[in-house]
Amino acid sequence: MKIVRAKDYADMSRKAANLISAQVILKPDCVLGLATGSTPIGAYKQLSEWYQKGDVDFSQVSTYNLDEYRGLSHDDPQSYHYFMRDNFFNHINIDINNTHVPDGANPDAAAACAEYDAMVAAAGYPDLQLLGIGNNGHIGFNEPDNHFSKGTHCVDLTESTIQANSRLFDSIDQVPRQAYTMGTQTIMYARMIVIVANGEKKAQAVHDMCFGPVTPQCPASILQLHTNCVVVADEAALALC
Ligand code: GLP
Repeated sequence: MKIVRAKDYADMSRKAANLISAQVILKPDCVLGLATGSTPIGAYKQLSEWYQKGDVDFSQVSTYNLDEYRGLSHDDPQSYHYFMRDNFFNHINIDINNTHVPDGANPDAAAACAEYDAMVAAAGYPDLQLLGIGNNGHIGFNEPDNHFSKGTHCVDLTESTIQANSRLFDSIDQVPRQAYTMGTQTIMYARMIVIVANGEKKAQAVHDMCFGPVTPQCPASILQLHTNCVVVADEAALALC
């Protein structure tokens, strides 16, 4: 793992965007694995600005998102489909047909997950996977568990995640209780991983990810075993490291 220290959120976002844009410049038809959550929004904004200036071209890029809430339509403002269009895809020249998010609107969990796994595999897995980290060390929606997960699967969200994500909903009752997520094994297949974190709330999870034991109780800790993983975090998130 390589730890890149950023001064603050803006610096973290710019550094992560630099790594992603380098990937797109080196391989214009690359496969990007993308993440939702508040943390990557600054990197998406930065990349959108660089696209507007003509510095980076997404016309041949394809994307696969990590996860989606089960039961939300693609147009639901709380869905990750909507989030990605709103925060990134609508601002760059990507072909929307080349963007992929698990189909939370499909109530058949086994079919939705198998279909998504097949698509990610057919694409050859991401050249670069962007990740955020949950307060409890989750990646995607791979929650702390007694084993690491493999492919895309349906998860029951933990109370801690429901609580943390409720800030984005009108009330906690509206937070979906389940999600479809890429598995940990799939995430590890990415050829490069960039994980972003900011703020003191992430300090324990970032410490455990980088320096704790490799355990499914902290799903992000498996990234210690990845040969090309970069942690881009601000001072507050690195306070315990
Ligand atoms: C959600 C997403 C994760 C994300 C996490 C942290 O649970 N499924 O992919 O990393 O939230 O979100 P935030 O960046 O808002 O702290």
